Amino acid sequence: MSHHGSRNDECWCKSGKKYKKCHWEQDEKLAELARKGIEIPPRRLIRRPEQIEGVRKASRLTAQILDMVQERIHVGVTTEEIDQWVYDMTLANGGYPADLNYEGFPKSCCTSINQVICHGIPDQTKLKAGDIINVDITCELNGYYGDASRMFVMEGATEEARNLVAVTKECLDLGIQQVKPFNRIGDIAFAVEQHALKHGYSVVREFGGHGICDKMHDEPFVHHYGPRDRGMVLVPGMIITIEPMVNAGDFHLKILPDGWTVVTRDGSLSAQWEHTILVTEDGYEVLTVTE
Ligand code: MF3
Ligand code: CO
Ligand code: CO
Repeated sequence: MSHHGSRNDECWCKSGKKYKKCHWEQDEKLAELARKGIEIPPRRLIRRPEQIEGVRKASRLTAQILDMVQERIHVGVTTEEIDQWVYDMTLANGGYPADLNYEGFPKSCCTSINQVICHGIPDQTKLKAGDIINVDITCELNGYYGDASRMFVMEGATEEARNLVAVTKECLDLGIQQVKPFNRIGDIAFAVEQHALKHGYSVVREFGGHGICDKMHDEPFVHHYGPRDRGMVLVPGMIITIEPMVNAGDFHLKILPDGWTVVTRDGSLSAQWEHTILVTEDGYEVLTVTE
């Protein structure tokens, strides 16, 4: 009688369990939300255990590469050198840097310095004293993706720059704490933006996080601003990134003539941190960690 199939049939998720003992109850709840006009995930976004394990391994490699960057980065290195480190370590571990040739992106990672919000292209630019830089790495390993970024603060950075970096990390952590079944993307967005606003900062609107698994960018779009009652409902087995971009000035941006580099319109500093996150039965698991 159910439009989801019989309660005694095998569950659609291929667990081998009966539907009534597996996803039936959750599907009933989601159908009810959908009737109220709330966006619910299509089944393909509820990842199977082998997919989750694939993303976990790719994410672990991503975190290991960021650890390597963290050890080596210093004033005087060029962003192209950082890119080479990333390329070499990814390949040495059997992975591939997903950014390379992605929609024509020419390098293996994004390096975004000071007023650059995201998608900075590694080049001959040397890191200077006082710079803040985001290094964003997406690894593909055995067909699965992990995506994370961190800020690095060079010696001599102003108190103002350090504060922006620290508060943006807090925004990410507060966003992550909103990840649990039946919360919505808007709950993450609200937590992130309220914290940024409290410190006099603004949150970028045109770019956000994303679903991730066997593609770097999948549904849902993860915005980081606005009220709670927006966006897709979170369900165990979904994998998303949270990656707030926080500006010291206003949230407006422009894209440079290279077609990639996104900068603040007002020239103010910008910071970003990113993790890949699994929605679990009772909350979340951060996947872009080393153990
Ligand atoms: N790592 C970025 C993200 O967080 C995507 C990089 S896209 C590229 O979604 F084209 F710049 F590689
Ligand atoms: Co990224
Ligand atoms: Co991302």
